[in-house]
Amino acid sequence: MLSAKSLFQEILDNDESFRLFCSIAASGESQGGWENARIAALVPESERALAPKVARHGADEDKHGRIFTALMKKRGLRPVPVPHETDYTMLLEKHGIGLAHEQLKRDEPLSVQDVVTYLAHSRVTEQRASEQMELLRKYFADHPDLGRAVKMISHDEDNHLAYCHEELLRFAYAGHGRTIQRILRECALAEIAVYRDVSLAVMDHMGRILQWPKAKSAVLAAGIHAMYAYERAGGWRRMVSLTMPQRRNALGGPATTSVEFA
Ligand SMILES: [Fe+2]
Ligand SMILES: [Fe+2]
Repeated sequence: MLSAKSLFQEILDNDESFRLFCSIAASGESQGGWENARIAALVPESERALAPKVARHGADEDKHGRIFTALMKKRGLRPVPVPHETDYTMLLEKHGIGLAHEQLKRDEPLSVQDVVTYLAHSRVTEQRASEQMELLRKYFADHPDLGRAVKMISHDEDNHLAYCHEELLRFAYAGHGRTIQRILRECALAEIAVYRDVSLAVMDHMGRILQWPKAKSAVLAAGIHAMYAYERAGGWRRMVSLTMPQRRNALGGPATTSVEFA
């Protein structure tokens, strides 16, 4: 039977598909790490208190990138180049979502509006990360090789999402509410389309590696389109709501390490 679990299982069991999966994940995580490190360095003076949390956010994403690389190494596999059409982070940037890399490479302080844009972008993408990791945790929490990594990353992504809610609410109370709602909506609508395209591209690569029959690929593609239809029809709203998280100041402490993986 074709289930999300059997699909993941199949991808994990084959060296070629496993290393593509880990390479794509590692690349996305480390791009996120770089972006956050740059943003932490460029936070404006008036928002200085936020800088250590952004740095922590970046350190976590870098750690996730190292974990996915370590999982490959453990199986004696090397990373493969990430196909352009599967590069979620890069495609989002190309669609003008979040802060442009060109801007982040410059040494000019960000504006408060830029910080709000960063947080709104993260609110949307961390929702995706948190949901994806929750799914992996559900299926593979007890997996001998992946279990610990999946649990750690899932916990971190939940923290990132909580942090985005809390900080965006702070900016909303400070009078940025309308701007935040506008950016969140733009980000979410762009993200769901990028996510659909990336999912189709990843499944296309996996299908070729694992030699899936045409009918199986067609069912998977239909599932991805159905998910997009659901998100476009209103599912996207879950990505733009703001509620004060139970866990406050989730990124307030120092980053946890990944020594056991690296
Ligand atoms: Fe991450
Ligand atoms: Fe994250």
